[in-house]
Amino acid sequence: MSKALDGVRILDFTHVQSGPTCTQLLAWFGADVIKVERAGEGDATRGQLRDIPDVDSLYFTMLNHNKRSITLDTKHSMGKEVLETLIKECDVLVENFAPGALDRMGFSWERIQEINPRMIVASVKGFGPGPYEDCKVYENVAQCAGGAASTTGFDDGPPVVTGAQIGDSGTGVHLALGIVTALYQRNATGRGQKVLAAMQDTVLNLCRVKLRDQQRLERTGVMKEYPQYPNGTFGDAVPRAGNASGGGQPGWILKCKGWETDPNAYIYFITQAPVWGAICKVIGKEEWITDPDYATPPARLPHLKAIFATIEEWTKTKTKLEAMDILNKYDIPCGPILSMKEIAEEPSLRATGTVVEVDHPKRGKYLSVGNPIKLSDSATEVTRSPLLGEHTEEVLAQLGYSAEQIAVLRTERVI
Ligand code: COA
Repeated sequence: MSKALDGVRILDFTHVQSGPTCTQLLAWFGADVIKVERAGEGDATRGQLRDIPDVDSLYFTMLNHNKRSITLDTKHSMGKEVLETLIKECDVLVENFAPGALDRMGFSWERIQEINPRMIVASVKGFGPGPYEDCKVYENVAQCAGGAASTTGFDDGPPVVTGAQIGDSGTGVHLALGIVTALYQRNATGRGQKVLAAMQDTVLNLCRVKLRDQQRLERTGVMKEYPQYPNGTFGDAVPRAGNASGGGQPGWILKCKGWETDPNAYIYFITQAPVWGAICKVIGKEEWITDPDYATPPARLPHLKAIFATIEEWTKTKTKLEAMDILNKYDIPCGPILSMKEIAEEPSLRATGTVVEVDHPKRGKYLSVGNPIKLSDSATEVTRSPLLGEHTEEVLAQLGYSAEQIAVLRTERVI
């Protein structure tokens, strides 16, 4: 079966998480991704957070499926020649080095364009142009600078970062969209272009509703769907909203049976307006259906804390999955708080390939997240991450290097 990105060749200069997330997606869609790593060392994540001695970490294996790995010293003059050949032969160069690293290597945008005017050069950086553009950035720096941390957590606590890697993986996904869009435009123009996804920008894009709220706050002084209303105080910036879901569909996380010992015995419960009657019946508060203090969404807003406390008395009598079964019958939106253990064992995620078991020659079988984006005409088969330099000779031979030339590169420690 053909793949959506068959024939697209990616020169993958990425490392750590953000860039590899992007090129892994492109590989899953069928691109030939050639990961260039430093001879002898490789992507630093190969050795980070190892669970088995001397074996590529899960950090690395789970971000580098379906790629080929070559080692190359791109600061060596002979390595630069190989890199030039790769630039000629590839469609896209993806990198997430610290700012300026590619220029220092001698491969500025202008130089790359001289070698291959069709090349798309795609970069992840921490910040776009501005006061912080030269900074090195990791996940939590981006979450803090992009507005996620200041708006996450509870009103009486410090800013909190989220477990979802919105700065790293989120930016990788944004970059992948930029790349396929640039490839599409190249069909018409014949030219490559630069694609930049800054981690701060990505986090802010994902926090779009909070910039919406900033402007609402400035206009009205309060936001009625926030837990600060009606008894708390609002400052001049969007506050942390705890677990509120906002809008006309207030929600909160409620305890379920077993919460005293199970840290994940909770359910997210949304008091969506159209099913208010059903909610009242399920929890045994039918009088709320007609009570003017509870009958409409605006009337309920000042009582939300008390309403959720009453609903919680009911959810505490059910396990989260029992509560789900009952609430779903009435189309009441709710979600169990699933632990990573439960997710890993969930059969439906296995069936769709969102969670996959992969075999690795050194570590054996491990679980990974497969391609979360499903294309009906371009199926994803997840194959294991490459060992360091596993494909160096294969790729060089494809580029036209003879066995003798490859032997010289090895002797000179270029590969
Ligand atoms: N051969 C020779 N040199 C190589 C090489 C190769 N194959 N691959 C990388 N290098 C060199 C680079 O050219 C650079 O050299 P320089 O400092 O002399 O210019 C050096 O290795 C280090 O690269 P760098 O990207 O600066 O790594 P770092 O470990 O110092 O910084 C980050 C790591 C993630 C902080 C940084 O890359 C960064 O800010 N990236 C952009 C934002 C980002 O993606 N952050 C999220 C990471 S999940």
